[in-house]
Amino acid sequence: MMKITFLGGGNMANALIGGLRKQGYSATGIQVIEPLQENREKLTAAFGVRCSTTIDAAALDCDALILAVKPQQTREALAPLTGAFAGSLKTQLVISIAAGLRLSDISRWLGGYRQLVRCMPNTPALIGAGITGLYADSAVGLKGRDTAEKILRAVGGTLWIDDEAQMDTITAISGSGPAYVFYFIEALQHAAQNLGIDAPAARQLAIETFTGAARLAEQSEEDVAVLRQRVTSKGGTTAAALASFDADNIAAAILRGVQAAAERSRTLGEEMGKN
Ligand SMILES: NC(=O)c1ccc[n+]([C@@H]2O[C@H](COP(=O)([O-])OP(=O)(O)OC[C@H]3O[C@@H](n4cnc5c(N)ncnc54)[C@H](OP(=O)(O)O)[C@@H]3O)[C@@H](O)[C@H]2O)c1
Repeated sequence: MMKITFLGGGNMANALIGGLRKQGYSATGIQVIEPLQENREKLTAAFGVRCSTTIDAAALDCDALILAVKPQQTREALAPLTGAFAGSLKTQLVISIAAGLRLSDISRWLGGYRQLVRCMPNTPALIGAGITGLYADSAVGLKGRDTAEKILRAVGGTLWIDDEAQMDTITAISGSGPAYVFYFIEALQHAAQNLGIDAPAARQLAIETFTGAARLAEQSEEDVAVLRQRVTSKGGTTAAALASFDADNIAAAILRGVQAAAERSRTLGEEMGKN
């Protein structure tokens, strides 16, 4: 059985452990390193997993070590691995879910260790509906990639990239993307209210339209553009709205927004890797 240790027992660790347990993964194979007693008690009560306050020998007896602390906390959280526990990383796959942190920086903080995978999940992972982009150091073999994929699949879909720079794009599309979707739902909801529909009905109409259309696109073999054209009869109501969106250059505005997010991701990665 694969043994997994989480460094950090926050939101993402909880989502991953919940997903793994739901898939029948045994609690005896999972450990969590978490400084807050309250979080440790919650994790043990909810999932029956072993928790420790800091990195110890038992926690390092694992196949995969998942870095699930905030990006700004990662370097400090890894310090014991070049201090008291130097030399303890031998074959363990280290999987980082810290947004923006580059593998070259994590490797440097770990004294040159290269069994490293970096991934970018998104918040729908909290309900098992995430999509995660993954990137592996060239030193990681097929078995390591398979291990990382198995773990992340517990909370949704996965997608490998072979150029780490694309992680900034993944961050800008699927990492930040749930917020863009909420932004659109909010705008549709406000439009409904503006045209006289009450708030609860506006919410229901906006959300169910979004989930229904997304599910239809997911289940269809057709391109999304074809699905859009099918709802858009010439001279009809949808055509009137889409012509107005085009006049306002909405698609170009979305592209610029995504570019701004990718640029921000690059800058943050550089800043966090400086020290
Ligand atoms: N949430 C998301 O949607 C999302 C999406 C993609 C990627 N990520 C990435 O996932 C990572 C975790 O995010 P999260 O939302 O799960 O954060 P979180 O809820 O803040 O979890 C981090 C946990 O790690 C603990 N911690 C801090 N220092 C530690 C140390 N030295 N040793 C062990 N544990 C330590 C924190 O404890 P304290 O509370 O005491 O500090 C906290 O419980 C982040 O790097 C984030 O970029 C998150």
